[in-house]
Amino acid sequence: MTGPFLLLTGDCRDLMPGHGPYDLILADPPYGETSLAWDRRVSGWLQLAARALKPHGSLWVCGSLRSFMATADAFHTAGLRHAQEIVWEKQNGSVFHADRFRRVHEVLVQFYPESARWQAIYNAVATTDDARARVVRRKRRPTHTGDIGAASYRSEDGGPRLARSVQRFRNVHGRAIHPTEKPVALLDLLIRVSCPPGGVVGDWFAGSGAAGVARRLAGRRSVGCGIDPAMAQRARDRLAAILPFPVGDSA
Ligand SMILES: C[S@@+](CC[C@H](N)C(=O)[O-])C[C@H]1O[C@@H](n2cnc3c(N)ncnc32)[C@H](O)[C@@H]1O
Repeated sequence: MTGPFLLLTGDCRDLMPGHGPYDLILADPPYGETSLAWDRRVSGWLQLAARALKPHGSLWVCGSLRSFMATADAFHTAGLRHAQEIVWEKQNGSVFHADRFRRVHEVLVQFYPESARWQAIYNAVATTDDARARVVRRKRRPTHTGDIGAASYRSEDGGPRLARSVQRFRNVHGRAIHPTEKPVALLDLLIRVSCPPGGVVGDWFAGSGAAGVARRLAGRRSVGCGIDPAMAQRARDRLAAILPFPVGDSA
């Protein structure tokens, strides 16, 4: 990799492995749920992504429960283990079916290589500063969830507590340059939690470059890739507007 920011044009399966290894891979692949021309599930990328991770690296994948269920086997085949998931709650969602609940959320799931121990994976535990002063007693958890340390601790008013797994962020409807553009703040959260400072984030389905903007805010290096040349150029222009140098499209 030559510079701190690259946004490649082409198929991520061809281009991204050669730019790794990555501390974190962020992937927002097509969910295969709409009639949009680009919204077709991509096969084979998971195995390549799993191999392109650093030993302490992990992968956050965006999707719907429907898309994860349809592709569950591919995660197993790629040797990836589920770590955790968050739900992104939107202020406004999409109506996919007029006779079902209005969908105002998406799911983001973190995976890591089966060959690694979770304790070895980079993980800056996410907290919010809204604890109340009290003694927090931890019950012993079942052994399969691992060691959680001390049985109790004292929290202070305004102190840190574990961030909730449901996170609310406004979506970017009305000002998005991509039809399924993710909010920068959502991606920024995942990058800070799962990529060490100075580490490299690979954004395998870059779309509008939202993850690139988030990586800039979080101070990490990044390589993104989009298959649509026009969208990739818009993403490059978007990134260049917040950087003091042009964004490259090749190493
Ligand atoms: C769900 S969108 C990503 C949106 C992005 N996260 C954002 O915030 O703008 C998926 C993107 O992947 C692109 N794509 C589809 N197949 C691809 C491939 N094989 N390699 C790279 N990008 C691909 C599509 O063109 C689309 O822009």
